[in-house]
Amino acid sequence: MALKDTFILKNGVSVPKIGLGTWQIPDGKEAYNSIKWALEAGYRHIDTAMAYGNEASVGRAIRDSGIPREEIFVTTKLPAQNKGYKIAHECFEKSLADLGLEYIDLYLIHAPWPWDQIGIDCTEGNLDSWRAFEEIYESGKVKAIGISNFEPKHIEPILAMCKHMPMVNQIRFHIGDRQEEVVDYCRDKDILITAYSPLATGRILNDKTILDVAEKYNASPAQICIKYCLQKDMVVIPKSTKKERIISNKELGFIIDDMDMKALDRL
Ligand SMILES: NC(=O)c1ccc[n+]([C@@H]2O[C@H](COP(=O)([O-])OP(=O)(O)OC[C@H]3O[C@@H](n4cnc5c(N)ncnc54)[C@H](OP(=O)(O)O)[C@@H]3O)[C@@H](O)[C@H]2O)c1
Repeated sequence: MALKDTFILKNGVSVPKIGLGTWQIPDGKEAYNSIKWALEAGYRHIDTAMAYGNEASVGRAIRDSGIPREEIFVTTKLPAQNKGYKIAHECFEKSLADLGLEYIDLYLIHAPWPWDQIGIDCTEGNLDSWRAFEEIYESGKVKAIGISNFEPKHIEPILAMCKHMPMVNQIRFHIGDRQEEVVDYCRDKDILITAYSPLATGRILNDKTILDVAEKYNASPAQICIKYCLQKDMVVIPKSTKKERIISNKELGFIIDDMDMKALDRL
């Protein structure tokens, strides 16, 4: 079953290939139930962020599940606007406390720049954050560290100074938007890619080609989009708050053949 399949990071940590995304899931009942249903369905990887404002419910659902902590992979992120050594340490401690967990599996710098200033140069701030990340990693409170939305030009300065390389880069990746340059660069550096917004936040589910491919495999358009990312050898983290979708999004017992993968590549 795909939910049990993992990638192994360069430090030996296993990452389940499919996770539940939680962006735009409000804290409280909705977040709690989404995580609960996902864990009941067999998901063992949850992606959250301080910026999503739902860490408390995510953590509570994980703790209440009764599943041994070491069987669940939890990612959270340093807010994109919070750059620097001290604030990175402070935010990490706050996420840990809000999640109510003793450790986090993966901690990411959410973006190379604040969301309201996309493109500005924050190299110094990112390097200072990374120093804090390395200390947190060495403390054992996080099992792996990485980045998100980073392009090669943002990664190079970290590689030039780091003691521990980023192990994951979480990027926007879906049919029709493949960021090939970033993917190739990360593969070359042995940085695992996580595909976020694999359904383009729902925008590509009515695409004619995707619908045709879905019909051929007796699958839903969402399943095709998720399987496409898996067949590109990346972690994938679809989001849903609906129990039946959470369940169906992990039913992926088919293989998209080369011809159809190429047709999807052309979109
Ligand atoms: N690092 C970053 O900067 C970053 C940025 C964006 C996202 N992410 C992560 O990636 C995760 C996924 O990305 P995303 O939230 O943008 O969206 P997504 O997973 O691409 O799509 C989610 C949307 O599709 C709908 N959906 C889910 N399953 C469906 C199905 N089987 N049939 C029809 N509709 C379905 C959901 O609605 P319902 O909930 O109503 O089912 C929701 O509107 C996020 O939640 C977050 O964890 C990270």
